[in-house]
Amino acid sequence: MTSSEVELPGEVKNDPAALMASLHLMPSPVPNPEIKYTKIFINNEWHDSVSGKVFPTYNPATGEKICDVQEADKADVDKAVQAARSAFSLGSVWRKMDASERGKLLFKLADLVERDSAYLATLESLDSGKPFLPCFFVDLQGIIKTFRYYAGWADKIHGSTIPIDGEFFTLTRHEPIGVCGQIIPWNFPLVMTAWKLGPALSCGNTVVLKPAEQTPLTCLYLGALIKEAGFPPGVVNILPGYGPTAGAAISSHMGIDKVAFTGSTEVGKLIQEAAGKSNLKRVTLELGGKSPNIIFADADFELALEQAHQGVFFNNGQCCTAGSRIFVEEPIYDEFVRRSVERAQRRKVGNPFDPTTEHGPQVSEEQQRRVLELIQSGITEGAKLECGGKAPATKGFFVEPTVFSNVKDHMRIAKEEIFGPVQQIMKFKTIEEVIERANNTEYGLAAAVFTRDISKAMTISAAVQAGTVWINCYNAMSCQCPFGGFKMSGNGRELGEIGLKEYTELKTITMKMSGKTS
Ligand code: NAI
Ligand code: MG
Repeated sequence: MTSSEVELPGEVKNDPAALMASLHLMPSPVPNPEIKYTKIFINNEWHDSVSGKVFPTYNPATGEKICDVQEADKADVDKAVQAARSAFSLGSVWRKMDASERGKLLFKLADLVERDSAYLATLESLDSGKPFLPCFFVDLQGIIKTFRYYAGWADKIHGSTIPIDGEFFTLTRHEPIGVCGQIIPWNFPLVMTAWKLGPALSCGNTVVLKPAEQTPLTCLYLGALIKEAGFPPGVVNILPGYGPTAGAAISSHMGIDKVAFTGSTEVGKLIQEAAGKSNLKRVTLELGGKSPNIIFADADFELALEQAHQGVFFNNGQCCTAGSRIFVEEPIYDEFVRRSVERAQRRKVGNPFDPTTEHGPQVSEEQQRRVLELIQSGITEGAKLECGGKAPATKGFFVEPTVFSNVKDHMRIAKEEIFGPVQQIMKFKTIEEVIERANNTEYGLAAAVFTRDISKAMTISAAVQAGTVWINCYNAMSCQCPFGGFKMSGNGRELGEIGLKEYTELKTITMKMSGKTS
């Protein structure tokens, strides 16, 4: 997840095609970037899978195969853990490296990502179906900033001295945890990789990382940049593969000290269980959401309308923070629905590499099917389908931007994460009622409120159970801000200073003072 203010720079908005040309971007209609890295990255080298198996990755906009990738499973995870353990061993280059040097390597990595950002955005867009321009201007810029942010922290992670009772001297150290498993989703493949690698490396850990099977390509390319930046062998290992094989091998591995995961709540539970059943490795989880977006009648109507639209449809509707339960105050409800439908119908769906495209396909046929099935449940349960609702008659895994009104809280579309371009608009009358309904969910990732009344804004902000609350904006995120969920939206926080805490163990050292002055 990242900022969906989707505020593209002025010159891009005015003439996106010219901007793409000036960046030497190759779109139109579909680029054909050279794909250099499709193997498993262990010890700064490229390996075939132990099993000899490969798996395909697809372009979701056409449904066509891009290429095959080496398929890691348990045996490859074992190899990677060995490499990561040895890179973490006492006396290794990485453990002996000055913290400021670790920072320098992360700064270098950020520079390399910046150098290759047009290529990376092209590859990301091709493999995931994200529209190219937001991928370049939102995702890639966010990734570069995240690496720089955590580069800066590397030599500023320090403990405290504590005046304990008695004649002792006590201090604390924040030490790296060890080998960190990181399991990445497909909706923001590189962004989620940066959110996890940045703090892990800043703190001095080593990493075994698995990209999602739908979107392995940019992560693998990053492996080459990690090597080029000068990280020692074994510090970062990247293993493309499937969840129940490679992913499960990571979460249950006795040689892995921590696992960080972003994805479905269902798999989050499996990961926590596997950690508990193996070595009680530390677990951070960033899971699903069903975030309320509360719009009062006194709000800036145009702002609320556009932000509510972007808050659901950004990234083809595939955001954990999607503001998919939109509560609108009664006096403006009908007008809000009418105008939301108009906006959704205007949303430009198509080839992610067309600079005027706002909206691409779902990541896979499976996701397309899931979204269409939930839309059907909304119709069956009696919500009013205002527009969209189908897969357009084109190739690729597209779903039309869809709006439902008259949605009731008990319906599946009001309760389950849809992860697609589907907007639910509900009516409310009082602030007490809307607070209760907003919190009536197992999730607690994000929430938003639109109003000109500061007291209402703060009342809602304090009352909603969510890790992030936006007032008069949506998806305004940055690497300096902690992000994570209440309730079943996850455990722990990513980003910001607090994100470092999830990648360190705290050690208390107490020394007996002799009490003598000479
Ligand atoms: P998923 O949770 O299965 O996949 C996310 C990652 O977990 C992938 O790398 C996958 O390979 C891995 N994984 C899957 N099973 C695993 C296991 N048993 N052990 C370890 N790792 C495992 O999500 P999926 O099936 O791709 O999408 C299903 C739904 O999950 C979506 O419709 C959406 O609601 C939600 N989701 C939420 C995301 C978020 O940003 N919070 C991101 C992706 C999906
Ligand atoms: Mg793909």
